[in-house]
Amino acid sequence: MKIFVDTANLEELEQALRRGFPAGVTTNPSLMAREERCDFRLHVNKMISLIREYDYDIPLSVEVFSDDPEEMIQQAEEFVGEFGHYPNLNVKVPIGWNELTVIHELRRRDVKVNCTCCMSYNQALMAVQAGANFVSIFWGRIRDLGYDAAAVVRQLRDTFREWNTSAELIVGSIRHLADVNEAVQAGAGIVTVPPRFFPSMCAHPKTDEAVRQFVSDFQHWQAEGERGRGARSGREALAS
Ligand code: E4P
Repeated sequence: MKIFVDTANLEELEQALRRGFPAGVTTNPSLMAREERCDFRLHVNKMISLIREYDYDIPLSVEVFSDDPEEMIQQAEEFVGEFGHYPNLNVKVPIGWNELTVIHELRRRDVKVNCTCCMSYNQALMAVQAGANFVSIFWGRIRDLGYDAAAVVRQLRDTFREWNTSAELIVGSIRHLADVNEAVQAGAGIVTVPPRFFPSMCAHPKTDEAVRQFVSDFQHWQAEGERGRGARSGREALAS
């Protein structure tokens, strides 16, 4: 199982990279729009520099921001021109009937594709058939409509295995910490997680309690040793 970081924020990205666990990074136009307004190309290149600075070679997904297939291909080509110096670049293309032509064309041009916004089993299958390298299924948004996201992930895991496809399933749209655990248990090979969840994924009140106790017991033990040594040397001074 791999954890990707779902962010366009440089600080959040760096905090994750410093901790050694990210196996990939995903962005989308909405995440980008949360950042201070800037040159989009410059921002993505800063993300790439950061990834390199920390010595990672992990997939970075950058999404097209158009609903016109022609324009999507054009934007993807621009991404390749601007960010193609990073070999692990993936262009995110939403699933859709016309969008399949984009995925197919980009793959024909040897551009790696993450097919995104998949909300159903059949959409994900079509993405694989069109040649997507990654397929992103949106856990939280599936559940918004009352459907069982875990069942979709389980079915996709089984079908991907059966097909022996090289396409990888990413579970995104994580809204709660429990979503991460449930997605992993349902068989997600990759979960892309908003960085706000990472600290809580490492925390437990009983851990804090245990660490506090260990530190305090050790400090008392040391302090008593100090006191004992002090008393001994006092007695020795009096005796001499
Ligand atoms: C995944 O690649 C997407 O960036 C992300 O997880 C979308 O989720 P949301 O818009 O439902 O939060």
